[in-house]
Amino acid sequence: MRRIIVALLVLLAVGVNANGQTARESLKSPDGRLEVRFELKDSVPYYSLYLDGKAVVLDSRMGFTLEWRKSDLASGFKIGRVERSSFDEVWQPVWGEEANIRNHYNELAVTLVQDSYLDHEGRRVDKPTVMIVRFRMYNDGLGFRYEFPSDINALTHSNNQTFNSLVTFWLTDELTEFRLPGDPMAWWIPGDYDTQEFNYTQSRLSQVRELHDSPHISGGWPWKSFSDTGLQTALQMKTDDGLYVNIHEAAVLDFPTMNLDLTYNDEVYRLKVHLTPDATGYVGRLTSPCYSPWRTVQVCEKATDVLRSRLILNLNEPCALEDVSWIHPVKYMGVWWEMISDHSTWGYTNDFPSVRLPGDPSLPPSLQGAITDYTKAKPHGRHGANNANVRRYIDFAAKHGFDALLIEGWNIGWEDWYGKDKDYVFDFLTPYPDFDLPALNRYAHERGIRLIMHHESSSSVTNYERFMERAYNLMNEYGYDAVKSGYVGHIVPHGEHHYSQPIINHYHRAIVEAAKHHIMVNAHEAVRPTGLCRTWPNMIGNESAMGTEFRGRINPGHTTILPFTRLQGGPMDYTPGIFETDMEKNAPWNHDLMRHTICNQLGLYVTFYSPLQMAADFPEHYEPYMDAFQFIKDVAVDWDTSIYLYAEPGDYIVTARKPKVSTLNQAADGLGELPDGKKGVISNAARFVYGIEDTNAFTHSHINALKPRDTWFVGGVTDENAREFSVRLDFLKPGVKYEATIYADAKDASGYVSDVTIGWEAARKEGYNPKAYTITKKTVTSKTVLKLKMAPCGGFAVSIRER
Ligand code: NOJ
Ligand code: CA
Repeated sequence: MRRIIVALLVLLAVGVNANGQTARESLKSPDGRLEVRFELKDSVPYYSLYLDGKAVVLDSRMGFTLEWRKSDLASGFKIGRVERSSFDEVWQPVWGEEANIRNHYNELAVTLVQDSYLDHEGRRVDKPTVMIVRFRMYNDGLGFRYEFPSDINALTHSNNQTFNSLVTFWLTDELTEFRLPGDPMAWWIPGDYDTQEFNYTQSRLSQVRELHDSPHISGGWPWKSFSDTGLQTALQMKTDDGLYVNIHEAAVLDFPTMNLDLTYNDEVYRLKVHLTPDATGYVGRLTSPCYSPWRTVQVCEKATDVLRSRLILNLNEPCALEDVSWIHPVKYMGVWWEMISDHSTWGYTNDFPSVRLPGDPSLPPSLQGAITDYTKAKPHGRHGANNANVRRYIDFAAKHGFDALLIEGWNIGWEDWYGKDKDYVFDFLTPYPDFDLPALNRYAHERGIRLIMHHESSSSVTNYERFMERAYNLMNEYGYDAVKSGYVGHIVPHGEHHYSQPIINHYHRAIVEAAKHHIMVNAHEAVRPTGLCRTWPNMIGNESAMGTEFRGRINPGHTTILPFTRLQGGPMDYTPGIFETDMEKNAPWNHDLMRHTICNQLGLYVTFYSPLQMAADFPEHYEPYMDAFQFIKDVAVDWDTSIYLYAEPGDYIVTARKPKVSTLNQAADGLGELPDGKKGVISNAARFVYGIEDTNAFTHSHINALKPRDTWFVGGVTDENAREFSVRLDFLKPGVKYEATIYADAKDASGYVSDVTIGWEAARKEGYNPKAYTITKKTVTSKTVLKLKMAPCGGFAVSIRER
């Protein structure tokens, strides 16, 4: 399967200097349609991007400004060595939307040289400064990054200097810009240093300023805006020519996160990189050799091609882990939604106005008596993570063939965790008195369920790092192999941001350290991902966007935008599957109605890719709808093939996917290897593909004797508009009969309500009818065309299995 063609051509550039001449290089995509042109104009670097000769990005500046130098990495360059090469391979992700990913590009690396520089007092220093600009041109877009080599002997061919004058250097700004020749439509969230938990706004770029503050109204906390035209990436745009242009970044490591700042006149819309500063104001403290993340411009003619693009993953390095056998897809439930919807709480008692955890090194000896003693506390009776409740969830999850159960609020400290910017806030080790960790863990394992650990750091990165090794060791001791981490609130150390370089480094350390412990990570409120899961596939999820927890505040159509934006960098733990849309059923004082139908939630399991998928609602909310719940039980979460049938950001997505058979039962198999793990468990997704209908009749050894049946899942979701799609099943094997089970919104279904707080009765008068669905079974073949209707805020789901 692997094909690699690498042709390397080294050119010694001619006729270029820093004295007002122009030097040009250009590079085309493998299909010859996209072209990046690089130019030094008066010694200043620029790039531009063309599709079939027409500008997509106009001449745009490149470079950086530096501390401690009067001259910057912005001008005064001449060209040194120029290298060209091509690359073509097919690689296999550990998990993903498809089993094989093609990475095919042409590459151009231009060495830029300054013979001397001016130090902070303006004195000329005759030492060369070298920066390489590396372009990768794909059929679906461009990636480029800046590289700062240490050893430069071979690159400059101008003198015999061996080392770059850039040794340890601090960035004060990145000058990279994306100048667009028009005013495209954009799906955007406001630029920020700390959160991406916002609704998206759809507008022209020229409308960003006037609309800029509105998304905050329904956004997360804390937010830190830097400009009234700041935008986050991935920024999806659509030009008047119908081109889908998406700006993002790939492989953000040891570097801050990029935002964009917009300025414009009638002709040019300029998006300039704005990096997140650290607590001291710098936007990067670097030591050569090193490089920046890739800046990317994806260019697609069809919306479905945006969803098909693997540009961001391909620009990341191959898997860094030798043994990946312990990494697997996970379908899970959680003692979670009941806290989010205020039915129960993370905390255990009302006794403590504040909490001082045992072992707090900041306490003087005389205050040791002030340490909080939970064993003497009176429980308030609403603690969700109690033994009986957890067992109830384990029983339900096991009965219905799930892999795992997340439990939040199991550890002490929650009485005092939020909004206090505390340092020593949790220890990630000590359970509440009513959470018997060893016993519950055993109970789960004996029933074929893995518990998922929860580490809410409350954004005290200092404290999480203090406890990380011990916390991971505890997980190893009890056989937890996945953790959901969280970064709610202001970052500690104070003054740092969720997107600043030191905190980017923390998230990365957490992933690398977890890998050493064979732990998979799902980080909430961390930075939005940039394809790093290719390199560290134990990063199985992130939230890092507005997810289901925002309940009624989520705009209709939100889940049709995220695959174009947030999901470009990696999967999201969106936590779908909410069947009870009336939050008053969960807590009488909670008045949100959620704007979706049950079939919309089912459709998300297919349209919204994640190897970690939750069925987020309460067991008792699924019980009345077990026929619809069957789809969540059956659906796979890791895929051999994905076909994007229809899509438009903000409007609709229809996707078909074929499960990857080899990982269907991987979670259960791994659990069976634990000393206390139940052997021979078959996940419900595996049962479906193998056609094992009777839950008790088979043990795992029988699976090998069976043949997996060709299986597909099709899902659709829409915004507030009802829609109908014709789905041709021509991806099925010709001449073979399949059984399709179609989960569709009923004729009178609707998930739309004008105001989510008006209450069930008033909403019903507006036609709100989210739980009305039909389920039909049908014999289909590759010639069948299914007509599938979606209600406002609705969707559909279809499972198709060879007879
Ligand atoms: C915010 C997370 O996104 C949510 O999933 C979690 O339950 C809470 N923080 C508490 O950690
Ligand atoms: Ca969150």
